[in-house]
Amino acid sequence: MPPIISIRNLTKTYASGFQALKGIDLDIRRGEIFALLGPNGAGKTSLISIVCGIVNASSGTVTVDGHDHVREARAARSLIGLVPQELSTDAFESVWATCRFSRGLFGKAPDPAHLEKVLRQLSLWDKRDSKIMALSGGMKRRVLIAKALAHEPRILFLDEPTAGVDVELRHDMWQLVRRLREDGVTILLTTHYIEEAEEMADRIGVINHGELIVVEEKATLMRKLGKRQLALTLQAPLPAIPEALGDLPLELSGDGGTLTYTFDVEQAFDVQQEERTGIAALLRRLAEQGIDFRDLHSSESSLEDIFVSLVRGRA
Ligand SMILES: Nc1ncnc2c1ncn2[C@@H]1O[C@H](COP(=O)(O)OP(=O)(O)OP(=O)(O)O)[C@@H](O)[C@H]1O
Ligand SMILES: [Mg+2]
Repeated sequence: MPPIISIRNLTKTYASGFQALKGIDLDIRRGEIFALLGPNGAGKTSLISIVCGIVNASSGTVTVDGHDHVREARAARSLIGLVPQELSTDAFESVWATCRFSRGLFGKAPDPAHLEKVLRQLSLWDKRDSKIMALSGGMKRRVLIAKALAHEPRILFLDEPTAGVDVELRHDMWQLVRRLREDGVTILLTTHYIEEAEEMADRIGVINHGELIVVEEKATLMRKLGKRQLALTLQAPLPAIPEALGDLPLELSGDGGTLTYTFDVEQAFDVQQEERTGIAALLRRLAEQGIDFRDLHSSESSLEDIFVSLVRGRA
């Protein structure tokens, strides 16, 4: 099946002369949850805004389910529900009127049953007659989601959906997103919460300074770029790492009491590498040097570590 969104060589230079996107190529697969990670100013919102037709691209093409996002803007846009980063809603309207109006904008016939379902899913049913300005920040954010879902889009863009949202609501949102995916909705979310990407995403893209530096299945990304660490608490502190162990990726703590061994996760699965850098070999060589340890603790890098090292590496 062709991708639901295809982005080719997309660039954006704002009127100020600032180049926010530098040739983005990206396919979003049907039915996936794609998380776009990147530091502030990386170009996430610019990218989403262009796909939605809110901002013009400087060059490049985007198709949404086969529809060119400029020539067939209406058809392309009506497939997408956008939850914008900024809270901007019609303060004086009721929740219900806002959602009903949004559905109408896309030329869909009124469907009170659908709106009721959406509002109930987002725990907003009790608030349906409240004016938006009378809601809390977290509720307003949920209204934005309800509004985006009002016209039953096949694709949902969530631009920082859980910024400023409490833990419980964040988990509710994750659950909602999973349910939408089960219904076949494709989801693209941007986030600063790495935990969110780790929890939700099928694939992850990392954008930095307007360039996509990685697009990968989440599991592959973590395996390829992840590091594993083994920390050994020594019986007796060492003044320095013995010369005979100088070829190993070892680090000694300041007090000489802990040796840390760092290796690529991918290497750990490689039998030949295992012979040279594996844990069994390490322990054997430590024993040869008469180094005893009383505790051993292993850890794996999180997506956060990987993200930070990727973005730092290219800064
Ligand atoms: N209208 C504009 N005019 C000029 N520059 C802009 C405009 N909109 C965005 N930019 C710049 O483009 C760059 C990318 O901004 P964008 O909002 O896409 O980043 P982002 O990845 O969404 O960041 P954040 O995580 O802070 O939301 C930033 O340097 C920003 O200042
Ligand atoms: Mg943004």
